[in-house]
Amino acid sequence: MPVVVFRRNGQTYRDEVKANTNLVVRAGIKQFPFPHLRYECGMGKCARCACRVLSGSEHLPAPNWKEKKQLGNRLDEGFRLACQLWIAQDIELAQDDELPAAL
Ligand code: FES
Repeated sequence: MPVVVFRRNGQTYRDEVKANTNLVVRAGIKQFPFPHLRYECGMGKCARCACRVLSGSEHLPAPNWKEKKQLGNRLDEGFRLACQLWIAQDIELAQDDELPAAL
């Protein structure tokens, strides 16, 4: 099962998830990474769930059109929208307190 490492506010949270897990869906039912993951719409519209992928990005599919629209150049800095990712492999993510400046 994929291991997710999630960093926020200087803390590190880690858990195993089922393959093809969406972290926003899990947080919505109060499972890891709840309550640490910031998100709102769950639909790729608000960018509140933007995370930097620290490792494991090679296992992710290419950004979809919602991520391209919301993140723009931030994609090149490793940002992805957690609500648009279905995790199938180990991944390490960080979510900053402030949204990236361009958002
Ligand atoms: S929760 Fe709104 S874009 Fe992901």
